[in-house]
Amino acid sequence: MRVEDFLEHLTEIDGGSFRDVLEAVPGLAAENNLALVNLAARHLEPGESYVEVGTLRGTSLVAAMRDNEGKDFVAIDSWQMSGGGRAAVEANLARFGLPVPTLLEGDAFEVLRSDALEGRRVGVYYWDAAHGYDAQLEGLRLIEPHLAERAVLIVDDTDWDRVRRATGDYLAGQPRARLAFEAGGDDHGNPEWWEGVQVLAWDGRVSPSETAAS
Ligand SMILES: C[S@@+](CC[C@H](N)C(=O)[O-])C[C@H]1O[C@@H](n2cnc3c(N)ncnc32)[C@H](O)[C@@H]1O
Repeated sequence: MRVEDFLEHLTEIDGGSFRDVLEAVPGLAAENNLALVNLAARHLEPGESYVEVGTLRGTSLVAAMRDNEGKDFVAIDSWQMSGGGRAAVEANLARFGLPVPTLLEGDAFEVLRSDALEGRRVGVYYWDAAHGYDAQLEGLRLIEPHLAERAVLIVDDTDWDRVRRATGDYLAGQPRARLAFEAGGDDHGNPEWWEGVQVLAWDGRVSPSETAAS
């Protein structure tokens, strides 16, 4: 993942160009969040993957895939939220002329613990599923063995106290990750950022024994 290049371009986020996606595929996302996942996917290195946990009916997946042909996309969902499902995702991808990527159906924690991602190097990881404190922390930790040397982890709904506490505690214990960007959402007067988002930059070159503060 070309992390620095991606972070530089974050200031140019143009959510308006994803309004058509939101109109056609209403989801639990706002236009800037959609532009963010698209920009992140655009900065994948060859051979790397975008992995999203929490796809529902495909809003963020369509946004991430648009104009990112030839890249590897993986979506994980147990379809436990009403309105979501494989059929809806496939239909929505088709509306935008996008191919069906790898859809891993099942509980995210089981999928991530299995060998389902073996052989992939994950450059972009988007967590938009279970938002309890323990689930958030676990969701971040479980992807670590699959991450490319440089990667980004995008966490949605960070306006919520339990989500922020989880990413904060994750960062405190993981020197390879740092908070690179955050935007407050609806609670901060920015509905174009949904319920807020944080981007964690991962650098696998950092020694795991370094303290997170050093
Ligand atoms: C907030 S929605 C995702 C919204 C989507 N990213 C969008 O753009 O509209 C959360 C999704 O996470 C899924 N989910 C929740 N807990 C899960 C789990 N433990 N494993 C897999 N999927 C889960 C739900 O089924 C739901 O589709």
